[in-house]
Amino acid sequence: MPHIVVVGSTMIDMIAYAKRLPEAGETVQGDDFALGFGGKGANQAVMARRCGATVTMVNTLGDDVFGDTTLKNFEEQGVDTQFISRVPGPSGVAPIWVEPNGTNRIICVPGANNAMTVEQVESAIAAMPNIDLVIGQLEIPQHVTAAAFRSAQARGIPTILNPAPFAPISAELMASADWLIPNESEFASLHPESKQPDSDAVIEAFAQAIDKRLVVTLGEAGAAYSDRGAPVVRVSAPKVKAIDTTGAGDSFVGSFSFALSSGLSESDSIRLGCLCASESVTRLGTQSSYPTADQAAELLRSVRGS
Ligand code: RIB
Repeated sequence: MPHIVVVGSTMIDMIAYAKRLPEAGETVQGDDFALGFGGKGANQAVMARRCGATVTMVNTLGDDVFGDTTLKNFEEQGVDTQFISRVPGPSGVAPIWVEPNGTNRIICVPGANNAMTVEQVESAIAAMPNIDLVIGQLEIPQHVTAAAFRSAQARGIPTILNPAPFAPISAELMASADWLIPNESEFASLHPESKQPDSDAVIEAFAQAIDKRLVVTLGEAGAAYSDRGAPVVRVSAPKVKAIDTTGAGDSFVGSFSFALSSGLSESDSIRLGCLCASESVTRLGTQSSYPTADQAAELLRSVRGS
């Protein structure tokens, strides 16, 4: 099984479900509430683990009860925590609002995620002899992710950057990423002319301009892939009824990363990503909505058999 290292964030998700969101100065009553494990890095780690990868999480937690429970969750999920450190202060939290059609709005308060250091990630990568893939996002300081990616690349280990939540990507981080996996709005924000990924030509031109392997996730339309400007390969997603899209993109990245580092083709890896993400939107919550290990194995069998 591949060994995937996630250098990224952890959050405690505080999800409120409501028929509509309040206007400024207004209070509305919600219908439901869930407290769960989240953070884009943690979600991707858990999804990759459920698919069968050996996963090591590199992160910093606060010294609060959220840090304790996050650590326990990783242990229960079978994610290696030896490179998770603790610092005084609060762990990351994410208040989230979800509307009946499944769309969400998220505020991330990074807390201890911002205490991650270059030394922490460099020594973690150096200490692990066999790594197949390193994944990062934009919820920890970018120079820290860049340092981890550079350490990986120096050993010939591929790196995947999920540029979420969107922020302008530093030149050093961009240079150290082999793969880029944005969603539609992140693609448009990254694009110099803010173009939507609504044609093969736009996606190919951007992949060529940045000279990367580019996978754009397109929600219910699946995903599109271009290898540094090569013709786009499109993979469709199954039709499902979405009730909560929180963390669907992370489910894609985690399962795609597992498949890719297991030796599946790019298109089959995208297919597994679309299947896992589609399944996740049919259930409430973030990690709680992800396919279980058995369900992920079934989805993997369907990809291998197709
Ligand atoms: O992508 C979904 C995630 O974004 C949530 O789990 C939340 O914590 C934020 O990081």
